[in-house]
Amino acid sequence: MVRMSSTTSIRVSSRVGGFSYAIRNIVAEARKVEASGRRVRYLNIGDPIQAGFTTPPHLIAAVERAMRDGHNGYVPSAGIPEAREAVAADYTRRGMPVAADRVVLTSGTSEGIELALSALVDAGDEVLVPTPTYPLYTAVLAKIGARPAYYRTDPARDWLPDLDDVKRRMTPATRALVIIDPNNPTGAVYPESTRRALIDLAERAGIPILADEVYSDVAFAGPTPLLGSLAPDAAIISFSSLSKAYLAPGWRAGWLAVGRSERLDDALAAIRKMADGRLCSPGPMQYAVTAALNGDRSHQPEFAAALQARATVTTTRLNAIPGMRCVTPRAAFYAMPQVTLPPGRTDEDYVLGLLKATGILCVYGAGFGMPAEQGFFRIVFLVAPDVLNEIYDDMAAFTRTFLST
Ligand SMILES: Cc1ncc(COP(=O)(O)O)c(C=O)c1O
Repeated sequence: MVRMSSTTSIRVSSRVGGFSYAIRNIVAEARKVEASGRRVRYLNIGDPIQAGFTTPPHLIAAVERAMRDGHNGYVPSAGIPEAREAVAADYTRRGMPVAADRVVLTSGTSEGIELALSALVDAGDEVLVPTPTYPLYTAVLAKIGARPAYYRTDPARDWLPDLDDVKRRMTPATRALVIIDPNNPTGAVYPESTRRALIDLAERAGIPILADEVYSDVAFAGPTPLLGSLAPDAAIISFSSLSKAYLAPGWRAGWLAVGRSERLDDALAAIRKMADGRLCSPGPMQYAVTAALNGDRSHQPEFAAALQARATVTTTRLNAIPGMRCVTPRAAFYAMPQVTLPPGRTDEDYVLGLLKATGILCVYGAGFGMPAEQGFFRIVFLVAPDVLNEIYDDMAAFTRTFLST
């Protein structure tokens, strides 16, 4: 007979303690507010489908066809050849020439990030990560036992990276430079001079750049150039997906492209070796990658225009709230306002207070690596402008009360 042991909980690993993803974690708070009978307006997650945008029909048709045609088995771990060709052709057309055998299809940008960090970084190493950052980078580093070396991006200069700070934070333990451009959570788009300076810093240090380009085609002034197009021989690994620019986040269809420099050959082999272990990313969705990159993109300018209208409502309304400022986003669907907090209060106090009083759910800046007392928080402005206006009415009223008590 198997004897049940004591009631002691099964132990979990210590790395879980360092793993944090505030964008999802904060939902637990929202559920409590919902349980109390109040409606919650979710401005925490960057999912355009949740806000009523729709996936282009030709992508759905491609996945449907793939499934009906019986493409429901495992596919090669690096992805189906036609999707890898389509990504390589798209990068090459955009000025970063890569061959299809340097492309790996991944479960979203997220898996690309995880594969690359796992392949490049050891426990105890450091990776340069912007603040504020997209939190997956720090979460994966915590899992690996490595450390983020935070470099500053500056709200007084449209959230551009502080190049001196990047330089200052490089040490012999630095293994990579993460660049998120266009940026989540700030909506910044970096000018060519900043991009060239960042490439120069990484090349001089002999470290690779991990270029998160998931919002390249969601910039309001039109697609931004790929970072690798400025320096095709630099050590750059680029990540993107169908999640944002092709409105299919739930499909988990993404890719990474490893720059043509021979210095990256070992990194490519390491990524491919690790990709073998998870068999493949979802197969039928890879057929949509081909359809997306080779097909009609007319939804993109429409999407960008809709987002720009929402960005304008957001910055106009937020900058009119006493005690609040917000830099104008130039891409994507995020804004990172700052509220001047009374002494002793934190960004989490503001965000949880706002949630409880109004049902509006945002994410506090500390979840993106910002100091909690600075009062930053992130808004996802995907919902329709009239809904945003109602939300900002409530936010203004709450902020007035919060700042006066
Ligand atoms: C900067 C950034 N990188 C990566 C991701 C993950 O995207 P995916 O759905 O492609 O995994 C996101 C999602 O919000 C993001 O904002």
